[in-house]
Amino acid sequence: MTAATTLPSSGIQEIDDQHKQLLECLDHLELWIAKGHGFSATLDALGALNKYVETHFLYEEDLLRRRNYPKLAEHIVEHQAITVELARLYQHVLDGGDVAEELLGLVRDWLLDHIGVEDMSYASFFGSR
Ligand SMILES: [Fe+2]
Ligand SMILES: [Fe+2]
Repeated sequence: MTAATTLPSSGIQEIDDQHKQLLECLDHLELWIAKGHGFSATLDALGALNKYVETHFLYEEDLLRRRNYPKLAEHIVEHQAITVELARLYQHVLDGGDVAEELLGLVRDWLLDHIGVEDMSYASFFGSR
């Protein structure tokens, strides 16, 4: 099963596209690691994922702000928690730690949980799904 098929729709095209790309980025990282690429390649791929997540979060927060979403503050806190975990993972790799499949499973869970619960919460608030 590919990541894209498990993603719920927010009803907002740009957001859905970004979520899909985000999961593709994670798929790419998993493949990269499974193929046994070296340290710097893994760090680059993880860095790319983190950058992508950051860009998406900022885009989403801006959209929610412009639409006066009442639970924006809580949503930002959620984004920050994921960002902190990803930064820790990046530091872990930088320090020479392994990125086990298990760890990437966790990243996938954080992202899918967030998209499935918090993102769908604003989607249903806006009546866009
Ligand atoms: Fe999102
Ligand atoms: Fe979000």
